[in-house]
Amino acid sequence: MNACWEDKSVPTPIYFDNAATSWPKPEAVREAVGAWLGGFGGNPGRSGHSMSVAAARMVESSRETVGRLLGADDPSRIVFTSNATHALNLALCGLLRPGDHVVTTSLEHNSVMRPLRHLETTGVALTVAACAEDGTLDWNALRAALRPATRLLVATHASNVAGTLMPLAELADFARQHGILLLVDAAQTAGAVPIDVRALGVGLLAFTGHKSLLGPTGTGGLYIAEGVELSPLMRGGTGSNSALETQPDFLPDALESGTPNVAGIAGLGAAVRFLADIGVERVRAHELGLVNCFLEGAAKIAGLTVYGPANAELRCGVVSFNIAGAAPSEVASILDQSFGILCRPGLHCAPAAHRTLGTFPMGTVRFGFGWFNRENEVETALQALAEIAAWSARERLNPGGTGT
Ligand code: ALA
Repeated sequence: MNACWEDKSVPTPIYFDNAATSWPKPEAVREAVGAWLGGFGGNPGRSGHSMSVAAARMVESSRETVGRLLGADDPSRIVFTSNATHALNLALCGLLRPGDHVVTTSLEHNSVMRPLRHLETTGVALTVAACAEDGTLDWNALRAALRPATRLLVATHASNVAGTLMPLAELADFARQHGILLLVDAAQTAGAVPIDVRALGVGLLAFTGHKSLLGPTGTGGLYIAEGVELSPLMRGGTGSNSALETQPDFLPDALESGTPNVAGIAGLGAAVRFLADIGVERVRAHELGLVNCFLEGAAKIAGLTVYGPANAELRCGVVSFNIAGAAPSEVASILDQSFGILCRPGLHCAPAAHRTLGTFPMGTVRFGFGWFNRENEVETALQALAEIAAWSARERLNPGGTGT
């Protein structure tokens, strides 16, 4: 589109980029991070002095808090990482060996696709099961992808593009029936959708701390079920078995080398306690309300196409859409500059998902709703989108015109 959108005064920002990272963080998170940077210190488990011991206790307390939220009864099976990408790489590279076959879906983020494409070059076979155009799972494609050598199924719990919530219980059953391990990418759902790893019987689950868990960036982790063995991505100091030059073989130390992100883990612990007090079911109901409000309003805007399942119950708090005649980056820029609405346009580091939806290479505009968003913000955004869609329609009829 050539003609310029006429900028208006920008009101208070409306933050709809929670799928990239949540904002704002709860007060308790900011306080916990500040306390560990200022009031306390120490390297956890490395020394016997009071601040080192306090740091170790805090890290273990955060681990227990995160484990409880995810339904893991043994906190040592939660390994802290710096984000979901780190956790996914640890799971994939720590498990798969040449000759293994892995199945994944066409909705995955590059944090799954890129390590898998790399592993392919080392002799791991990969099948990507195509999902339906509305971003839902195609069970026939998934069944057809299986081989005798299939060792692992990797699936996102919710697409960061289509917003589709995958049927996790059914996927876990499917994996069990076929004797394969299930690795879940819960980057978009941990903290926003109830998850019980033990009840589901999930083998591995990767999460990030800075999205719906409401913690700081640089935090995340991997849940590893009993009996699942991974080799480390890194080896080094753990503060344990220091007389040995070989890596400890017990969790979490076997997979957690080097000084951890102590302030970040303090913030993550505070964030998860904040969420546990609210209850993840309440967060889920709140986000579902926002998605429903958006879908109902969007359906009334001519020229606006929403991607992903029509039924809000099949979605997490992520919605992707386009406005006819306007590039996603243009729409996002107008939303930011003229309406103070912050969101993410483009391919969202998930080209396969966009190919599935038919939105590659242009991408989409994405809203990611979170706990701190309110329905009136969604209504304001719908009004803005209606204005942009009307403007775009006028521009298509009268390119470069005055728009009057
Ligand atoms: N993976 C994040 C997103 O979807 C950064 O935006």
